[in-house]
Amino acid sequence: MMDMPKREKVHRDTGGHDRISEIRVAGMRSIERLVIHIDGLAVLLGENGSGKSTIVEACELLRRSHRSGFLDAFHRLHAGCTGLASDALRLGVTIVGSGPDLHYDFSLLRKGVRTVIRSEELRVGRGNRPRFVLKRTRTRAKILSPAKNRLVERKEYDREQLLLPLLLAEDDEPCGPGARAVRALEGIEIHLPFVRGPACVQTTDRIELLENGLANASYQLKNACSPKHWRETLDYIKLGLGDEVEDVSTEGDPGGGGFALSIKFTGRRPEPATMMSDGMLAYLALIAVLRLKKRRSLLVFDEPDLHLHPHLLRRVVGFFETAAQSQPVLIATQSDQLLDALASPARTVHICRLDDQRRTRLYRPDASALERWLERYRGIGELRSQWYEDLVLGEEES
Ligand SMILES: Nc1ncnc2c1ncn2[C@@H]1O[C@H](COP(=O)(O)OP(=O)(O)OP(=O)(O)O)[C@@H](O)[C@H]1O
Ligand SMILES: [Mg+2]
Repeated sequence: MMDMPKREKVHRDTGGHDRISEIRVAGMRSIERLVIHIDGLAVLLGENGSGKSTIVEACELLRRSHRSGFLDAFHRLHAGCTGLASDALRLGVTIVGSGPDLHYDFSLLRKGVRTVIRSEELRVGRGNRPRFVLKRTRTRAKILSPAKNRLVERKEYDREQLLLPLLLAEDDEPCGPGARAVRALEGIEIHLPFVRGPACVQTTDRIELLENGLANASYQLKNACSPKHWRETLDYIKLGLGDEVEDVSTEGDPGGGGFALSIKFTGRRPEPATMMSDGMLAYLALIAVLRLKKRRSLLVFDEPDLHLHPHLLRRVVGFFETAAQSQPVLIATQSDQLLDALASPARTVHICRLDDQRRTRLYRPDASALERWLERYRGIGELRSQWYEDLVLGEEES
């Protein structure tokens, strides 16, 4: 049986890959304006309705933004500006890693029942004098011409699309700012709580979790990764579900269209996914997400604690902390057990609060107050359950 990954040591190994280090959201439900800095693991906690899932949904919008038909999807899946209770939505990210820092922002405006693109910008570099690669207003668009080394007005373009994909198409360099920004947005991966499908395990339609679901991911882990990687994955599964787990198999689904998953315990016949409990499935799915060798710019989970027994949850928190060493991980949770299992809550927790006008505000815990309280309490979860959360509330994030 393998040891649990060491959680105290925080060592980032992002290997020069692009990752999202900051998310900017304005005009979305309870969020008037918010900047979330992500360095490794970021855990959002807060009372019901304090805006955690809204931040997750902002990530989803960013992920989709560069795709064609984005405004249609914005109406279909998010009910447009009406659904977001806003006349003007602004979203942005900072991307760091494989080159100079990139800052991408766009804003959408409600026009009657329609939504129009009000602005879009891509800037390169830090400080007060970043260089614009793309600058667009309601009526005009300018794109950097490498030949002329300045922004040049673009007359012909699709008013209904964001311009970032155009930049990608026209970028000569595969590592140019347009290509990097599109890859970073595409590299956002979002997981909502798991639900059961009729045959295999599926997720809600808003998650593209594992593309075709848990069974397909397990197939990939078992067959496309090395035997050593699969053995380690099986060890992770045993850590949570017990040493009696002999194997997890995937076979062609007789219904077609994918694979069916089964798990074999010692001395028993393989049991199909349909017979597994919600908690077992949720655990397997989280292991699959974290063991798949995918390059993400940001990995987001809304309430990953759902269905999980506290012991399994402690394991899963360890996995998140390990995963966050190589990619940013953002988690929204209500679970005291998850909070109590965090190795460095002062560094990872962001507290969502509604102010007297029901607008979301974001606070960090006060590190020194927390350290004192943690001499007697298990973690922020236990403090919170006893109504002491205010005593460790630190400064508001800018
Ligand atoms: N579909 C919606 N349309 C309009 N407002 C909404 C919608 N969903 C949520 N809200 C509002 O947005 C605010 C933030 O909600 P959000 O779902 O982000 O909170 P949360 O922190 O995830 O809460 P919970 O812990 O209950 O999941 C709340 O004030 C809520 O009333
Ligand atoms: Mg929520």
